[in-house]
Amino acid sequence: MCGIICYVGKDKAEPILIEGLKRLEYRGYDSAGLAVQDGDQICCHRAKGKIIELEKKIGDMTIPGNTGIAHTRWATHGEPTEANAHPHSDNDGNVFVIHNGIIENYYSLKKNLKKSGAVFKSETDTEVLAHLIASYFDGDLNKAVRQTMAKVEGTFGMAVIHKQVPDEIVVARRGSPLIIGVSDGGTFAASDVSAMVRYTNKVVHLNDNELATITADDFTISTGQAQTVQRSAETVEWAAEDADLNGFPHFMLKEIYEQPDTIQNAIRGRIDRGEGVPKLGGLSPVWEQLKECRHIVIVACGTSYYAGCEAKYVFEKLTEIDVTVALASEFRYRKLNFAPNTFIIAMSQSGETADTLAAIREARRKGASLLGIVNVVGSSIARETDAGVYNHAGPEIGVASTKIFISQLTVLTLMALLLGRHQNLSLTDGVETIRALEALPDQVKDILSKANDIQAIAEKYHKHGNWLFLGRKYGYPIAMEGALKLKEISYIHAEGYAAGEMKHGPIALINPKMPTVAIIFQDSMYEKMISNIQEIKSRRGPIIAIATEGDEKIRELADDVIYIPKTLDILNPILSVVPCQLLAYYCAQLLGRNIDKPRNLAKSVTVE
Ligand code: G6P
Repeated sequence: MCGIICYVGKDKAEPILIEGLKRLEYRGYDSAGLAVQDGDQICCHRAKGKIIELEKKIGDMTIPGNTGIAHTRWATHGEPTEANAHPHSDNDGNVFVIHNGIIENYYSLKKNLKKSGAVFKSETDTEVLAHLIASYFDGDLNKAVRQTMAKVEGTFGMAVIHKQVPDEIVVARRGSPLIIGVSDGGTFAASDVSAMVRYTNKVVHLNDNELATITADDFTISTGQAQTVQRSAETVEWAAEDADLNGFPHFMLKEIYEQPDTIQNAIRGRIDRGEGVPKLGGLSPVWEQLKECRHIVIVACGTSYYAGCEAKYVFEKLTEIDVTVALASEFRYRKLNFAPNTFIIAMSQSGETADTLAAIREARRKGASLLGIVNVVGSSIARETDAGVYNHAGPEIGVASTKIFISQLTVLTLMALLLGRHQNLSLTDGVETIRALEALPDQVKDILSKANDIQAIAEKYHKHGNWLFLGRKYGYPIAMEGALKLKEISYIHAEGYAAGEMKHGPIALINPKMPTVAIIFQDSMYEKMISNIQEIKSRRGPIIAIATEGDEKIRELADDVIYIPKTLDILNPILSVVPCQLLAYYCAQLLGRNIDKPRNLAKSVTVE
């Protein structure tokens, strides 16, 4: 969704802003723009479409100035046009504003501003910010932004420059992320680290209702009530090369291939082999209460939600804890009634998904304890939960989540194992699970080495417009995630179903043109899955099986088989999702789709 990058420093701002905008492309957007200040002049350019369109617009023009703000817009209020692209300005072109989020009371503000002479040039909610700031400005930009914050309802991460205030940018946040980056060459502000990771890894997070003035060599943070806040920079572990393709044609493929390391990074330093117990330091603030916990609710969206669905089975196997999984966007509208000592786990790659954030705030209101499983260090969910575990998976740039799903499953397994070992799970089971977890990276490598076979299967089926993914128990969330991957990036219609439900509807669709991906493990569900496959076969539906190595019976039934190595039942999902990811990737590639930036989708969904 919308992205922000700002710079004030020793160097020319425009190339730094363009580079930052390109780093934000993965978030999904439909127009872009920048405003660069040079003394009392501000030069603004905007364009509909990709960053390249903005670059074409700028062409050979030299844009002087070392202070600037830039934005990628994902349309909410008003179509994706140049007029609606940010930055927006006031009548006199003094103030320039970029904004992520939604100003909920913009309509009434706009009406009043119009009465006092403001002329609106766009259909956006953002433009009210420019007019309001201009109306409050008396030489102090920080104060004018603070007064504006008091007037607006809704969410914002914003950055503002003013013609009469050179070499200074004011940024503010409520609900939408904003971070400051500190380097020898200047100061940055951005909606996420990846926009500035090339220049600095020293960041300062703004909290909700805080604003900051940034200059070339300093920043000052204050609250909406003008109280000064002292906060020093933290070092993020992401490196510039993490955000590069490193020879891969797409980030999605790069991230699929990173998965052996992703698993390693999730377990490194977190296990005690001898005792068969994980060590999760991030949980220590709540440990005494957590070890008595009997109810967990996992709230999440998208792929993170499917990881939660999988975790339910894993927790049931390893612990005595009852787990419910909820879509964050639905959870917050329910009448929440928690049993005593219930923990909510918010699971989110970005840590900024608006629905997940809103869900935990509602759960907090109802007295539940909050845990986070988050990839982005210092993100809103990480800061609003009582304790949690980081994925340490590095940036995930491809819009379709891959390595984070695997990381989430790994972390959830560690968490379940830790709790299980403090309940009834035996030492032998603990040690066996840890051994199996440690074997996973090599097993994923083994699957990746068969990528060519999976590509050949994609060649055979990519023109089929409707697919079904089926699984039971541990295989069911993988069926849902496999279908999601395929539809997200290839635009092939796919449904993920619990195999037992097939005869209650989807079986009506089976025909020779509808392939079924059957996730079949050699576990207690095996024979039942075989029956489902038989039912499809007798209706002449093509079958692609993702099955366990050594399963010869499946060869006779399925048209194509992708084998995964043997592991524990609870870890089969981690291995079986990899062929699903590759299958989706190759289908999308053969269909010529925009794999890393699929249409209409955004990496980080910061509006509800
Ligand atoms: C978007 C992304 C998905 C992601 C979901 C939840 O829809 O495209 O890949 O799974 O948001 O995001 P989160 O950051 O909360 O895991």
